Amino acid sequence: MEIVTRMMDGSLPYDVKEARPGSPVLGPPIRRDEKIEHLQKVPMFRGCSQRQLRALARITEVVEEPAGKVLTRAGEPGTEFFLIVDGTARVEVSPQKHGRLGPGDFFGEMSLLDGGPRSATVVAETAIRLLVIDRRNFWALLTEVPRLTQALLVTLSRRVRQAEQSLNS
Ligand code: CMP
Repeated sequence: MEIVTRMMDGSLPYDVKEARPGSPVLGPPIRRDEKIEHLQKVPMFRGCSQRQLRALARITEVVEEPAGKVLTRAGEPGTEFFLIVDGTARVEVSPQKHGRLGPGDFFGEMSLLDGGPRSATVVAETAIRLLVIDRRNFWALLTEVPRLTQALLVTLSRRVRQAEQSLNS
C-alpha cells in the first residue's frame, strides 16, 4: 500500500523515463517478426541475404537491459556472445583501463572462443538493446557470417597489440 501511495503522490517514479533521466527508454519487448529489423541495423549483417537474416533470427535473441546492468563479470564463466543494437556499454578491463562499446560493437567472444572465464566486466552505460547468441549457436553464427569471423580476428589482434604495448610502456 505504501508503494501505491508513493506512486500516486509522485514521490516514487513508476515511469521508466522518470526513473532513469538521461537514458534512452526502450520500447516494449519486440515481436518475433521485428527481430530481422534489429538484425539489419547491425552493420556487420548489412550484406546478409534474406535467407541469412532468417537463419540469424532463429539463433539470436533480442534482449533489453537497463542502465547499470552487469552484462559480463570478470572471472565468471561465460556462455553468451553479445552484439549491441542500441545503447552503450562500459568495458572494465582493469581499474586503470576502461573502454566504451556502442551500436555495432560486440563483446563476450573471448570466453566462447577459448572456454576461459570472462576477461572483463561489461556494464550497460545506458538502457541497451542486445542481440544475444549462446555458445551452441555461436559457431553457427560464424559460419553464417564470415565477415564476423574476420571482424573477430581483427579485434583480437588489436587487443593483443594493445596489451603488448601497455606491458612494454
Ligand atoms: P569475454 O572475456 O568473453 O567477456 C568480457 C568481454 O570484454 C571480452 O570477452 C571481450 O569481448 C571484451 N573485452 C575484453 N578486453 C577488452 C578490451 N581491452 N577492449 C575492449 N573489449 C574487451
